[in-house]
Amino acid sequence: MCGGSGTRLWPLSRKAFPKQFIPLYQGKSLFELTIERISGFGEVLAVSGDDYRFFVQEISEKSGVDVTQILEPSGRDTAPAMTLAAAFPGNDDDLLLFCPADHFIPDGDKFGAMVSKAADLAVDGWIVTFGVQPNGPSTAYGYIETGDQIRGDANKSVRFHEKPDLAKALEFLSSGKFLWNSGIFLIKRCVLLDALKQFEPGIYTPCVSAIANAKQDGKFWRPGEEFNHATAKSIDYAVMEQASNIAVVPFSGTWSDVGSWDAMFALSDTDADNCGKLGVIENIHLVDSANTLVHASDRRFILTIGTKDLVIVDTPDALMVSAIDQVETIKKVVSEMADAG
Ligand code: GDD
Ligand code: MG
Repeated sequence: MCGGSGTRLWPLSRKAFPKQFIPLYQGKSLFELTIERISGFGEVLAVSGDDYRFFVQEISEKSGVDVTQILEPSGRDTAPAMTLAAAFPGNDDDLLLFCPADHFIPDGDKFGAMVSKAADLAVDGWIVTFGVQPNGPSTAYGYIETGDQIRGDANKSVRFHEKPDLAKALEFLSSGKFLWNSGIFLIKRCVLLDALKQFEPGIYTPCVSAIANAKQDGKFWRPGEEFNHATAKSIDYAVMEQASNIAVVPFSGTWSDVGSWDAMFALSDTDADNCGKLGVIENIHLVDSANTLVHASDRRFILTIGTKDLVIVDTPDALMVSAIDQVETIKKVVSEMADAG
């Protein structure tokens, strides 16, 4: 799943060049790291819009991972994107592993072992989610309440609550019963299609038909225009909040959705004053600053003196300065700016 525009990392991530394709980590993009991590499991399908076709192609050629592309006629969020992949030609019993292309998961071996171990749950008809131990009341993630044990370290999910408000997030956190949804799902093809048919016929019907009418050109599949009528919804609201056959397996190893500047801060190497530098770090000079994250481009030198609790992101055509505890509102602000033209 690589069709999102990553607005929470504005102004570094843009609709025309979203974060999943930007080389953020040791010269590699998160998309590249993702396809490398999963290439051993089987066929790799990338679902995105036409605008990202060349990014996907270029990166897959660079990494030597064979990728088939499903090109959405429009962006309709993750439930329709996943339905296209589920409706793609294959066997009913195939296991599908859905991975966002913008996660940072440094330990590929641990990840592989965790997914392989969860396969028998998916074979038995469970929708397998991978739950991350929360480290704060984030409102950017889905929360999964763990219930009775299924087997081993896998539990039933009592409820799935997508992106709660802060009060709910605090309540979930203090109960100690909730894990964050990592956004990675392992599901048998027919189980997902049955759930979509039951809960979201407005997604299931146009997507299945769009794949049946897809035009294939080598590695590229262009679903029919009926896809544009699919209800725009994320899989979390469309299926995860409705289904009763959800299993949760604890995520093993480090996981980060590099979805926000806070997450980027957590990933960056910080100094003794908890200051982090990203981008062209030679262009950054911090004096008496604390808890400050700065991203510089190659255009300008950035000097901070005595700053505290700030995120400063400079790019060739836009500069953002935000209080660190308010940086999560950026998604809303960027969408309002886009609406205002
Ligand atoms: N093809 C396609 N089409 N991909 C999409 C679309 C779309 O319309 N919209 C989003 N994506 C891709 C994004 O590029 C990303 O890789 C992935 O799908 C997930 O979308 P996000 O927009 O990043 O979701 P989120 O982070 O807000 O929330 C999800 O992930 C969290 C963990 O990272 C949810 O599943 C949460 O419950 C979860 O906690
Ligand atoms: Mg995300």
